[in-house]
Amino acid sequence: MTIADLDLTTSDASNPATGGGSGTLHPLASLTAAEFTAIRDIVSAAPDFTATTRFAYVGLDEPHKRDVLAWEAGDGELPDRRARVMLLDMATGRSTDNVVSIGGGEIISTAVLDGSTGQLPVLIEEFDAIAQIVADDERWVAALHRRGLTVDNVICVPLSAGYYEFPEEEGRRILRVLAFRMDSPSDHPWAHPVDGLSAYVDTATRSVTRLIDAADLPVPATSGNFDDPELQGPPLDTLTPIVITQPEGPSFTVDGEDVSWGNWRFKVGFDTREGLVLRQLGWADAASGQTRPIIYRASIDEMLVPYGDPSPVRFWQNYFDTGEYLFGRFTNSLALGCDCVGEIHYFDAVLADELGNPFTIANGICMHEEDFGTLWKHSDMFTGSNEVRRSRRLVISFFTTVGNYDYGFYWYLYLDGTIECEAKLTGVLFTSAYPGLDEAGADYPYASEVAPGLGGPYHQHLFSARLDMMVDGVANAVDEVDAVRVPVGPGNEHGNAFTKAVTRLTTEGSSGRVADASVGRAWHVTNASETNAMGRPTGYVLLPTESPTLLADPSSSIARRAEFATKHLFVTAYDPAERYAAGDFVHQNPGGDGITRFIADDAPIDGEDIVLWHTFGPTHFPRPEDWPVMPVDYAKFTLKPYGFFDRNPALNVPAPGSSAGSSADHCAHHAIDAVSEHATGEAHPAGHASHDGHAAH
Ligand code: NI
Repeated sequence: MTIADLDLTTSDASNPATGGGSGTLHPLASLTAAEFTAIRDIVSAAPDFTATTRFAYVGLDEPHKRDVLAWEAGDGELPDRRARVMLLDMATGRSTDNVVSIGGGEIISTAVLDGSTGQLPVLIEEFDAIAQIVADDERWVAALHRRGLTVDNVICVPLSAGYYEFPEEEGRRILRVLAFRMDSPSDHPWAHPVDGLSAYVDTATRSVTRLIDAADLPVPATSGNFDDPELQGPPLDTLTPIVITQPEGPSFTVDGEDVSWGNWRFKVGFDTREGLVLRQLGWADAASGQTRPIIYRASIDEMLVPYGDPSPVRFWQNYFDTGEYLFGRFTNSLALGCDCVGEIHYFDAVLADELGNPFTIANGICMHEEDFGTLWKHSDMFTGSNEVRRSRRLVISFFTTVGNYDYGFYWYLYLDGTIECEAKLTGVLFTSAYPGLDEAGADYPYASEVAPGLGGPYHQHLFSARLDMMVDGVANAVDEVDAVRVPVGPGNEHGNAFTKAVTRLTTEGSSGRVADASVGRAWHVTNASETNAMGRPTGYVLLPTESPTLLADPSSSIARRAEFATKHLFVTAYDPAERYAAGDFVHQNPGGDGITRFIADDAPIDGEDIVLWHTFGPTHFPRPEDWPVMPVDYAKFTLKPYGFFDRNPALNVPAPGSSAGSSADHCAHHAIDAVSEHATGEAHPAGHASHDGHAAH
């Protein structure tokens, strides 16, 4: 097939990732299977493409926001569809970062990486090669034998290397290996870490560059087989079914990647690196008929799992699951009634494999509505008004499995304009051999004993949400708002006063901020020119969940590589090249990239087109209850409208039991009468307000 054979402008009905039925792909539409094929053909025709060249990443190279908005407004050209393609030659290590014009059928630019600013992401092919590479190394085999093990009853876990200035690793693609014993084909190896042993591997030369054989620790014998009925115990058989039905179908409509639900409008996108991407999220204003923009693009652009155990075989454990491993490609195919219940709409995820061929993860993204309790409610003692509305939320989510851990990322949209992002953490702990108490009887300070003899090293999960904000337009600003106690003094004689302190963040260099629950710190994102009915700037507020930022020492390698994680917030001026908080090439990146580089020019951010980088996530001191499989742990942040609307925007939500706005009164329980009766001994008929003095609160 040639490029000319491909009809790239026609929506492919078999591929929901294409841009609806409009006939022309939106500039932000996720790459389609036909486009991946075209990209492969363009790239593989280049003279320096060899039989050993692999596609380390293929993704949409998004046009500049300015060009997309101009085109949408009808005063600009349709931007060219372009892809970013990272290529690794497995034989030579040659690594390139290319931009491909799909419509033009050509490679527009090629940058060759020299390794000094990081490596391309780890390939699955490299992971797969690891077991054989170490099995061929006699030092590794001997170290296993001394422990009574062989290469046949041990599995090897390849892990990203970090950057430690080891001279033999400069410019080479390195992975580090830890071993686990596996006692049978169904035995979960995470229960049996072979501690004290690690191999460092050059994946290009297929050689072990260093073997760490630091300690002989007994391999823990406990079972990790959570799927074994014997370990599960007698089934809990008292649970009755919960069935969620929407007899009239869901309330959302979907056209390709475009979703409409209530007043919400947005696009569902997918990327091999970031997984789910929400685009052009806005609120349709009924009065004007216009959709008011809120967020131009939202994703989890990076996540870091740094471990706090300084053991000689673990000090380097820091995983960037997005930048090093491209967690989007490990997106699960979700099952109805298992992963998602109710009236579900699935989006398939389309991506390229390492040979550049398109493949589809069916049902990779799940979307559905959930009842969410009370939206608003009041029983009025004076008017007799009894009103209650039920909250519901639209859930857009995906799950990805990265080795031992499984991560779900859930975006929630609410009827009152609230946006939430919640990470769900489950799967299996990365384990160690618990060394036991020291001579003084003290616990090991860097791991919990989660099962007899089994350690759960302390670690953090630090997610970076990249929020390309567009509250009522591109010109936005951020205020840090703290609650402030006012001292007793003139005007506050009784000392009850408190107020808020508002500090404008003016430049990138001073935008690094840390959450502080003791003052209820929040970050208000406001429009520079749009105002609400009170004449104040329209805005949204980012409400963080306070939890520790990166705990590694500021002088550490990981702190240099992950400056984004040292604060809860950074704000940068929009730059289409600034995509990922730890930089584009995270694998073996020595540091100074990503946020560090983005803020270096200290660009103004007050009233500019700005991007928020929000770090959130738990610091994990593992519990016995996290073993052998973790109940879901949660981490989240919230964006709430703050003066974006002139009043509660959800007044028009119909009462329960009414489907189309007619008032249903079966929920009016005469609650206020019951209250009045209790207070006075006599019932007040609805509509006859009490004025007898017991009403004030
Ligand atoms: Ni954890």
